[in-house]
Amino acid sequence: MTLPDVELNTNPEVTGFFDEQSNTISYVVKDPDSNACAVIDAVMEFDQSAGRLTYDGADRVIAFIRQNNLSLEWIIETHVHADHLSGAPYIQQELGGKIGISEHIQTVQDTFGKIFNEGTEFQRDGSQFDALFQDNDTYMVGNMRCFAMHTPGHTPACMVHVMGNAAFAGDTLFMPDGGSARADFPGGDAGQLYDSIARVLELPDDVRLFICHDYGPGGRAIAWETTIREQKQTNIHVGGGKTREDFIKFRTERDEQLAMPKLIIPSLQVNMRAGEVPTDEDGNMMLKVPVNKL
Ligand SMILES: [Fe+2]
Repeated sequence: MTLPDVELNTNPEVTGFFDEQSNTISYVVKDPDSNACAVIDAVMEFDQSAGRLTYDGADRVIAFIRQNNLSLEWIIETHVHADHLSGAPYIQQELGGKIGISEHIQTVQDTFGKIFNEGTEFQRDGSQFDALFQDNDTYMVGNMRCFAMHTPGHTPACMVHVMGNAAFAGDTLFMPDGGSARADFPGGDAGQLYDSIARVLELPDDVRLFICHDYGPGGRAIAWETTIREQKQTNIHVGGGKTREDFIKFRTERDEQLAMPKLIIPSLQVNMRAGEVPTDEDGNMMLKVPVNKL
């Protein structure tokens, strides 16, 4: 694999913030040479029964950035999440920074624009985001040159972001005992997911890998940091030389058993708009429930 011209020995400070409603981990990543930082996969909480948004998790991230006098340059989404609503605009309003996602957001917007019967005012060109990353695009967080890898499979717009010796897996990999994420959402593909994982595992063995969700399999404590080496050796879905055919068969059978995430319907409508809640003709925040479509 040819990597972009980046310094993989840079050692950023990574702080994780766990969201108990969706088992998501958001990250603040600090450039070791400056006060610049990035946020990865911010969350806002949604009480679906009451239709009420709250911002406790995002407020913790904001407080951490302020207390440490950091300057927020990027707010990155590893993909359009289906299990939680993005807190990116809320954090941006407080601290600035650019919201970035894969250029393939356009495919996701097209798919779900149809499912949610969005009108022509819903742009399918990714213009709700400040930056659209292509495969191997590089960008700066302070003095640290980072890059994005296109890793489709869980969704068409998944990316793994590499910042020095830290890589942010999104839902492309879970902890070694959690395996991998499902590949059965519209636009998902188990074979593509296997190929994307194989590419991520070509990063150097010592790269720290930070995952986006953990459910504490078998009752173990929640965890979110592993390494490329550990994943290659012990990941239960792809480690130890499992074949592509094994993976596709296992993943497909398993996905047929999984229920939809509790917050998938609000999450998709909000996250495909870069975290903005859609509004009705009077400007009130309003969500739809398409029936028998997912
Ligand atoms: Fe996901």
